[in-house]
Amino acid sequence: MTSIGPSDPTDPAEPADPGVLCGLFATWASGAVRRLPLYRRLCEGAAGDPEVAGRLLLSPRPPQRIPNLLLAAVHDVVLAGDHDPEVEALSGWYGSATPHPRPVGRGGDDPWPHFRSAALEHPAVADNLRSHSTQTNEVGRCAPLLPALTDTVSEFGAESLGLVEVGASAGLNLLMDSYGYCYTRGRVEPGTGDALDLDESDRGARWVSPDRSLILTCALRGPVDPPVPESVLVISHRVGLDLHPVDPGERDQARWLVACQWPDQPERVHRARTAIALSHGRRPRIVTGDAVDDVAALVTDVPREAHPVVIATWVLTYLGPDRQRKFLEALDEIGTRRDLSLVYAEQPELVPGLDPPARADGVPDGRATALVRLDWRGGTRRARRLGDQHPHGTWLEWTGR
Ligand SMILES: C[S@@+](CC[C@H](N)C(=O)[O-])C[C@H]1O[C@@H](n2cnc3c(N)ncnc32)[C@H](O)[C@@H]1O
Repeated sequence: MTSIGPSDPTDPAEPADPGVLCGLFATWASGAVRRLPLYRRLCEGAAGDPEVAGRLLLSPRPPQRIPNLLLAAVHDVVLAGDHDPEVEALSGWYGSATPHPRPVGRGGDDPWPHFRSAALEHPAVADNLRSHSTQTNEVGRCAPLLPALTDTVSEFGAESLGLVEVGASAGLNLLMDSYGYCYTRGRVEPGTGDALDLDESDRGARWVSPDRSLILTCALRGPVDPPVPESVLVISHRVGLDLHPVDPGERDQARWLVACQWPDQPERVHRARTAIALSHGRRPRIVTGDAVDDVAALVTDVPREAHPVVIATWVLTYLGPDRQRKFLEALDEIGTRRDLSLVYAEQPELVPGLDPPARADGVPDGRATALVRLDWRGGTRRARRLGDQHPHGTWLEWTGR
């Protein structure tokens, strides 16, 4: 299983020596995982240990030599329930493997020595490093997508939608009508943006399908409320496209998806596991192919009665500016024959080839993910910035049309 490009585009590409790799772990410890006690400790440990950091050199794909790959390679072995004593000991700190993870401390409370042994000695960790790439399918991104699609339905008066998701991974986001949603202005967790105390503090929250077994909470920011549907949208056609699709029905592939999540974030792990379970027996068709070369055929296949919407979340960034432009050209060509929309959620500075529209209020782009919709109507393309969101969809600032 592979994915393309670095999982965190801020990582320098192709680090090749252990000293540089130690530096990457240090950057992660003070950055991406600084609020996550387990992963911060493990990254601090690897930052000072060239032998462990150097395990990333087992990956034959230089852009994959990133801390998340080693963390996932060990996490996968923990999730597999291996009986190796070091892995068994280590699993005590993983909230994904035990309901009551041990606090991270020093001495006997330090997970690092066990992680170090697993990283250096466990054959399955080495196999993972050689054969796997980091892979995500973040269902939290459905929460900002839902208002974007609701807006599309009202714009086109569409009775049903035909979804074509490029970079669909396991196809979990194509099942967005299986999930419930809660849009809240209640308290949120400072680090992740996750909504807190939903029942107690936010009686004005807006719910969609609250009876579903997976509820995606999304904290609203800014003065404008996004449009949300009274009930789920009608999706009459759905298909995914991915260079390397993941089959969540395959046990090892499903476990790797979870392994790429961070055990310090039990909400994300729970979301992934529940969505994987919900997908069993109803996974949409995912075609193996390229976003640029193969999107047109899939849009053309959308039945006439449905409004085609191409969805792209955290995938167009992997294309590079020229291919991003070609992607738009492919949709422009279809737009001469039928109306369609593209909804994407990408970080603006990473998708220059899409020429993302600026925010209507003039606030400059930062690290937030932009939520953008392009419509082709009667052969004319129009782009609008719908809002900004957390990369995983835990908050949304709807800025309107
Ligand atoms: C970061 S993941 C995001 C997955 C999903 N869109 C989500 O938001 O959870 C990027 C996905 O894009 C796929 N991908 C990367 N480049 C691609 C391309 N040129 N064509 C199709 N899929 C691609 C990868 O295989 C991976 O599954």
